[in-house]
Order: sequence, then structure tokens, then C-alpha cells
Amino acid sequence: MKNYKIAVLAGDGIGPEVMVQALKVLAVVSDQFGFSIQHTEALIGGAAIDATGAALPEATLTLCKNSDAILFGSVGGPKWTSLPPAQQPERASLLPLRKTFDLFCNLRPGQIYPAFAELSPLHPKISSQGMDILCVRELTGGIYFGEKGRTEDAAFDTQKYSVSEIERISRVAFEAATKRRNKVTSIDKANVLATSVLWREVVERVAKDYPQVQLEHMYIDNAAMQLIRAPQHFDVLLCDNLFGDILSDEIAAIAGSLGLLPSASLNGSNFGLYEPAGGTAPDIAGKGIANPIAQILSAALMLRYSFGEEAAARAIEQAVASTLEQGIVTRDINSASNYGTADVGAAVIAALNAIDTKRA
Ligand code: NAD
Ligand code: IPM
Ligand code: MN
Repeated sequence: MKNYKIAVLAGDGIGPEVMVQALKVLAVVSDQFGFSIQHTEALIGGAAIDATGAALPEATLTLCKNSDAILFGSVGGPKWTSLPPAQQPERASLLPLRKTFDLFCNLRPGQIYPAFAELSPLHPKISSQGMDILCVRELTGGIYFGEKGRTEDAAFDTQKYSVSEIERISRVAFEAATKRRNKVTSIDKANVLATSVLWREVVERVAKDYPQVQLEHMYIDNAAMQLIRAPQHFDVLLCDNLFGDILSDEIAAIAGSLGLLPSASLNGSNFGLYEPAGGTAPDIAGKGIANPIAQILSAALMLRYSFGEEAAARAIEQAVASTLEQGIVTRDINSASNYGTADVGAAVIAALNAIDTKRA
């Protein structure tokens, strides 16, 4: 039987609450599909600072290096914002992990299924047309990792992109488009930014290798607007690090909630880090009401991209769709709902069992 070793880094805030549900789901599908998952939990982020003084302890990094994939929760929160910026959980754990493993490619798939378009806050005349977007976000370059500086009365961040960084993420976007609806919308601010001018040039060059794929360029401000006006217009969105961060939260909200959007961070090998697009949600942490779906769907992406367990990944996605269809949703989606994190997790497992009975 295949055995996959994963590092489980739940982190802070709602991270541990939603992780419990994802691990339960993984235990059920591994049973159903005949593989085993050996998971080891380790400290990360604020929880690691509190326990060890370091946001990314050596033991955690070693565990990640010895694992086939990382299932990540989220890090950060008000408790640690008074630390010097470079020592805060986000900058001192998540960003170094992305850089250490060269996880340059971040996939964030967001959908509105026409059958339950009412989950979306958009007007039904728009949401009923559905949405199926793959946001391909560059994750190890740009303004996140450029030189930064601070004096008493000024501060700066710099954005730098090389041709090879733009080229490798563009290829991922075009390859993905060939397996979808053959359209790439590349997001930039080429009317202002030098990095965006280069971005456009390189994307144009890569596009020549994919004549079947339609390429359009769109400025970030217009894209933010078009996404809520006509989300069905988009197939693959190709974004730099910062624009992808922002637009992916927007895509999540259009789909219904930030608590629905999973992500896969990849480096071209089978290894990957899988995490919800959203954060630690300090406003609802500890209440048992966080939406676990983004974490559960991130586990499904791990099965697909790191382990090639496509059938198991699809079963989870189907079970999530069935749970949403039954209206078993947390309050971020329906403010009148009484369902909590554990109820949604249990409903996904019940749906998985129902799918399994049909399969058998
Ligand atoms: P956030 O994503 O944590 O929350 C934004 C809003 O979305 C909140 O109202 C929250 O309740 C809601 N939300 C997010 N996920 C939800 C879920 N699963 N279920 C229900 N509601 C959900 O963003 P923020 O408040 O700007 O940031 C809080 C902290 O999280 C910050 O420290 C930030 O840096 C960190 N963060 C971490 C990650 C990560 O580790 N990957 C990602 C984003 C933000
Ligand atoms: C995300 C988060 C992170 C990012 C933060 C926590 C560093 O917002 O994964 O979207 O900006 O990449
Ligand atoms: Mn973000």
C-alpha cells in the first residue's frame, strides 16, 4: 500500500480548528482509496514563537524536508503584531517556507457552481452564470521578497522580476489553460510599473508556444472591477505575487467566502505546500464556527498534485459540493446558519461515505 508522509503545520487562530476536520477527511479517503497517510504535526508561526521563540523552528523545517508534502493551516494574529516586523509569524515562517522550497507557483481555484449560485454575494443575474477561475499566482518573487528599508520618517519596498521568474509561472498558466478553456488573462499595471512592462513582454513570448490559447492582458484595477461585473469572463488568471494575493481574496468572496478557497504551492516537483487562501481569522477563532472547507479542499489538492491520487481528490471535491448543496454551511456563508466547523466536517465525511457506497 502506498504511504505518504506529510508535515502538518496547523499554526494559529482557526488553523488548528479547521485542520482537525481536514485530517479526519484524509483518514476516511485514504481508507476508501487504499493508501495511507502518515502525518506528523509540528509547531509553526505564533504558536511556535510562544513555545520555542522561533516562528520556524529547526525541527519543523527538518520535518518538512523529510516529508512528501506540507499541509499548512495559517499563521499570524494580533498577539504577535507588536514584534519587530521581520520576526512576525507571516514573514518569519510562511514566506521562508515558500522560499526554501522554491514554491514559485501558487494555484487558487475558485468556482461558483450554477446549482448553488445563491452562495455568492453577487446579484443572481451574474452569479447564476457561474464562475470557474484558476488563479495562477507567482509566489517567490516580486515586492514580497525585494529589498526593503525603513528610516525614521520613510520606508520602501522594491519589486523586481527576472525574465526566468516570469517565464516559469507563465508556462504553468498556459499549460493549465490547455486543460481548461484555453484562455489566459494576464494581470499587470504596465501603464505604470517597469516590472509589469517586462511581465507583458515575457508573457507574450511564452504565449507563442501555445497558439491554441487566447491571451489577454488586463490592468489590475480593471480586473478587480471586471471580476465582480462578469466573473464568467475569466478562465486562467496569471498574476504576480501581490496582485494574485489581492485578486484571490476577491475570487473567494465571489464564490461565497474566503473560507472556501484552497491553494497549492508548487515547485515543479511532486512536493508542495497546501493551505487555505485565507488567514487565521482572529475575529472568529476559538468559537468553533470557522469554515473548514478551504482546508479540506487544500488536502484534496495535495492528493492530486503531490500524490497523484486523483480519484480520492475528486471524491473530496464531490463531497464538499454535496455538503454545500445540502445547505450545511458555516456562518461566513449564511449568517443565519447554526452549523459549526465540526458539523461541516462531519457532513463532508457523510457525503464521502455515501459516494463510497455508490462506488462499491
Ligand atoms: P483572514 O483571512 O484571517 O480573515 C478575513 C475575514 O475572513 C475575517 O472576517 C475572517 O473571519 C474571515 N475568514 C477567513 N477564513 C475564514 C474561514 N475559514 N471561515 C470563516 N471565516 C473566515 O484575514 P485577516 O483578518 O486580514 O488576517 C488575520 C491574520 O491572518 C493576519 O495575521 C494575517 O497576516 C494572517 N494571514 C495568514 C495567512 C496564512 O497563513 N496563509 C493568510 C492570510 C492572512
Ligand atoms: C496568503 C496570505 C499571505 C500572503 C500572508 C499571510 C503573508 O495573505 O497566502 O494569501 O500575502 O501571501
Ligand atoms: Mn492573502
